[in-house]
Amino acid sequence: MKPIQRHAAASTFYHLAGCSLSDCACSGLACFAARADDAERWQRATRQVPPVYCLGQCYAGPSDAGHDTRPHIGVHGRRSVLLNNVLAGGVRDLARYRARGGGAARLKAQRMTPSQLIGLVESSGLRGRGGAGFPAGRKWQLTAEQRARVKYLVVNADEGDPGAFSDRFLLEDDPFCLLEAAAIAARAVGATKGYIYLRKEYPQAARVVSAALLEARAADWFGPSFDLELVMGEGSYLCGEETALLNALEGRRPEARLRPPQVTEQGLFGAPTLVHNVETLCAIPWIVNHGASAYAALGFSQSRGTKLLSLNSLFRRPGLYEVEFGVALSDVVERLGGGLRRGALKGLMVGGPLAGIVPPALLSTRLGYEEMQAIDCAVGHGGVIAFADDTSLLDIAAQVFRFGARESCGKCTPCHLGAPRLAELLHEAKNGGRIDRSDYTALVDALAATSLCGHGRGLAEFARSVQRHFGGEIEACFD
Ligand SMILES: Cc1cc2nc3c(=O)[nH]c(=O)nc-3n(C[C@H](O)[C@H](O)[C@H](O)COP(=O)(O)O)c2cc1C
Ligand code: SF4
Repeated sequence: MKPIQRHAAASTFYHLAGCSLSDCACSGLACFAARADDAERWQRATRQVPPVYCLGQCYAGPSDAGHDTRPHIGVHGRRSVLLNNVLAGGVRDLARYRARGGGAARLKAQRMTPSQLIGLVESSGLRGRGGAGFPAGRKWQLTAEQRARVKYLVVNADEGDPGAFSDRFLLEDDPFCLLEAAAIAARAVGATKGYIYLRKEYPQAARVVSAALLEARAADWFGPSFDLELVMGEGSYLCGEETALLNALEGRRPEARLRPPQVTEQGLFGAPTLVHNVETLCAIPWIVNHGASAYAALGFSQSRGTKLLSLNSLFRRPGLYEVEFGVALSDVVERLGGGLRRGALKGLMVGGPLAGIVPPALLSTRLGYEEMQAIDCAVGHGGVIAFADDTSLLDIAAQVFRFGARESCGKCTPCHLGAPRLAELLHEAKNGGRIDRSDYTALVDALAATSLCGHGRGLAEFARSVQRHFGGEIEACFD
């Protein structure tokens, strides 16, 4: 495990640097949604310095680091691509991984040319699971066609979206699947060096992945022309944004970078770089073993394959589920989650705080990238936070903007100054104040039009989605 060598000016960015998490309570949005279930723990979380935004225990909110449990895990679809080893309780040593068929994809990939591998991923229809849904095969092609002596593969294991814990369990329970996928991807695009950037809030994942890396290296999984290292983060949601993550790996302040150039052309240390989310990569060994058409046969519309969903503690059956794209959100709520434990459903935050909130009237929407976008919401990273009717929309919006303001990297003005101002306005409105409509609209419009990265733009999309779907409740506080 490698600590980042940082420039001194970068150190102040990380709010968890040098701090122990062993007794921390979580202030993430899923814990906020469940705050009435343990008011004392939630109060402790809100008073805690520094705050911790997601421990990846959203199925047991409000959570703290001292009371970790295992969630319910299930598959809802024709086949499981991602959860077989997780359902088996975790496969953390190489011999067991091999005994269960692991490693075959890497050997098969060695007999394929890079362009065959890229073609396979392209025709599988796999899209990035980190949030943006960009076609994985296209990204592989763009990286592969760069002519450079050094290329990088970066595994984004920052899982910063409060409400999501899917990468956590892939890392803790199926580390060799990720390492196998990394070896295959590196071969396809010609990567010479790789990094797994893992959030500090997942200490068990860090232990498991570093042990797995030692075993994989000893078994010569990466060959002479590639190596993979684990690098630990120290807090900061924005480090999940891929250009900020590259700055973090370089030891700079992890602010987002202006694009173009795209990271496939000039990424880490200026070299062509393939950045992928953990869940995206973990689908690769299955695709190599079973074929692109078997993967593409799962899912629907432009969203092929399966997706992991993390259901929060307000459901009767919270936990980690693998679903096929195309599942109706009402089935997620009722058939997977078993409905709400208490209260009526206020709305469903799918895909993290930068996505919108789906109102109960739109639960017939089917899970798919374009289908969610059509209702001003998103698949995002697949966190599913149910809010009950004990939480007002203003409460949720104020909480999202407080989080957004705190995690802004400060590089551009509309987000650096606009997000805290919006948080302030919403906080005042929550306490009975009035919001000047033109001020509010101007701030949201500026965020949408001029933010440098998806953080500011996502906050604007969230604000607009809430106004569209919960206008009645929000309108009441505008002048
Ligand atoms: C504010 C912000 C935070 C993000 N956080 C994460 C994250 O924690 N994990 C992740 O995989 N992607 C995250 N992303 C998306 C990444 O920038 C990038 O699209 C992704 O890692 C690419 O991998 P994929 O193609 O496999 O999805 C974030 C994006 C934004 C704008
Ligand atoms: S939008 Fe926010 S997080 Fe993104 S670059 Fe600008 S200040 Fe940083």
